[in-house]
Amino acid sequence: MDIEQTFVMIKPDGVQRMLTGEIISRFEKKGLKISAMKMLIINKDMAEEHYSEHKGKPFYESLINFIISGPVIAFILEGPGAISIVRKLVGATDPADAEPGSIRGDHVIFTTYNIIHSSDSTNSAGREISLFFKKEEIFNYSLKIGKYLFSS
Ligand SMILES: Nc1ncnc2c1ncn2[C@@H]1O[C@H](COP(=O)(O)OP(=O)(O)OP(=O)(O)O)[C@@H](O)[C@H]1O
Ligand SMILES: [Mg+2]
Repeated sequence: MDIEQTFVMIKPDGVQRMLTGEIISRFEKKGLKISAMKMLIINKDMAEEHYSEHKGKPFYESLINFIISGPVIAFILEGPGAISIVRKLVGATDPADAEPGSIRGDHVIFTTYNIIHSSDSTNSAGREISLFFKKEEIFNYSLKIGKYLFSS
C-alpha cells in the first residue's frame, strides 16, 4: 500500500463539543502519523474554495456559514492507504449510515453538524493540504517504533 497523506479537519462543532482529544486519539491508536496540525478560523474565501464542489447545492450557504463560525483543528495524517482508512474511521456523511465504532457513528446525529472532514481522494487530499498548509508547516520525521507500526 502506498504511503499517503490526507487532510483532516475537526469542524467548529467538534471543537465546541470538546471532542478534539477523542478524535485525534483514534487516529493515533490506528497508527497514522500526524505530519502537521494547527487551530485556525477559516475565512469565507477559503471556505468557498474548500467546498467549491458543493456550490449551488441547497445546503451550500449554511455549510459555508457553519464552517467559518468558530475555530477548527486542521491536520495532515500520513500512513499506508491513509486516505481511505481515514474515511472509514470517520464514517458515512448520513448519520443513519455511519457505522457504530466510526467517529460519526459514535458522535453525530445531524448531517449538517458532523464534527469532522476528511479528504475523499488523492486529488482532493493534495488540493486541501496545499490550501491549508505551507510547506514549512508540514513535518517529515520518523517515528521510532520499530516494526510494529508504520514508521517512515
Ligand atoms: N444533504 C445534506 N444536508 C445538509 N448538509 C449536507 C448534506 N450533504 C452534505 N452536507 C454537508 O456538507 C458536507 C460536505 O458534504 P460531502 O458530500 O463532501 O460529505 P463528506 O465528504 O462526508 O463530508 P466532508 O466533505 O465535510 O468531509 C458534509 O460533511 C455535511 O456537513
Ligand atoms: Mg466531502
